[in-house]
Amino acid sequence: MINLKPPSGSLITLLAVAFVAFRYCIHETDQSLGDPARTSGWFLLGSFVLLCVYGVRKKLPFLPLGKTSTWLMLHLTTGVLGGYFFLEHTEFRFPTGIFDTLLWIGYFVILLSGFTGWVLLRTIPQPLRESIHLLPARIDQEIATLIKEADSLILELRKSSSHNEYELVYLSILRPFLFSKARSLSSGKKEKQYLPNAVVDSYSRHSNFSKLESNSVEDKIHQIVLRKSVLDRQLRLHSWMRGWLLIHLPFTGAMVIMILLHVILTHAFAAGTVQ
Ligand code: HEM
Repeated sequence: MINLKPPSGSLITLLAVAFVAFRYCIHETDQSLGDPARTSGWFLLGSFVLLCVYGVRKKLPFLPLGKTSTWLMLHLTTGVLGGYFFLEHTEFRFPTGIFDTLLWIGYFVILLSGFTGWVLLRTIPQPLRESIHLLPARIDQEIATLIKEADSLILELRKSSSHNEYELVYLSILRPFLFSKARSLSSGKKEKQYLPNAVVDSYSRHSNFSKLESNSVEDKIHQIVLRKSVLDRQLRLHSWMRGWLLIHLPFTGAMVIMILLHVILTHAFAAGTVQ
């Protein structure tokens, strides 16, 4: 469920003022037979600088420069505005030259990853978001403990019964699942605690896990398997939560250099054509 927080009144005002200022400047440029791409370019550059300032602000949280949440809202609002300036600047079409194409793709990737990250941040449960720096190591430890627990339950079962069919199911299906790494995409259903479909299929062929005797070894192992599946989901969400920033941030760095080059080249070219 996406939980989008509405922007504050002042940010909506800022958005409206920037939009009106942009339209006004483009209109004035058109009237004076100037180059609208140049005007929209300055707006785009301004929004880019403001978006980058958020990264600097994040590195200096101790400075009394306002609340981080306000900065994030400003970043998101400027991001939306920057997307619009970008489309205007590129005249709503894909460029042709190699450098311009790379610039377009790079900028588009930052915008897309930004919007994706925004949706992820609003979708992923708050406790998970807060434990971003702690969680994976803790989860790996818990999974290791679960495997030990399941193994000792199976040993217990082996001692107490000669019937080893369940042990085979454990060794061939459940134990490999307990050891498997969390996948980036889920293939399981929510009502099955996100247990991968392939595991559910082979597991249900051997055992009717909806009718397990409460507190039996099978039932305890079943609970362990479900817990592992939930932990896998947390690891998956976690990797998504970090993964998008691993695109957003390096692309921003690369774009700083490419945009600088773009500004220098377009100015040098304009100066050359004037002479
Ligand atoms: C050219 C456009 C953009 C640039 C240069 C840019 C740059 C940055 C930078 C430098 C950071 C800080 C990363 C860090 O140090 O953790 C960041 C974070 C972020 N950006 Fe962007 N961004 C852009 C567009 C967008 C857009 C369009 C959105 C969505 C509307 C967006 C959403 C976010 C979010 C959600 C974060 C992480 C917030 C947090 O956890 O603090 N960005 N961006």
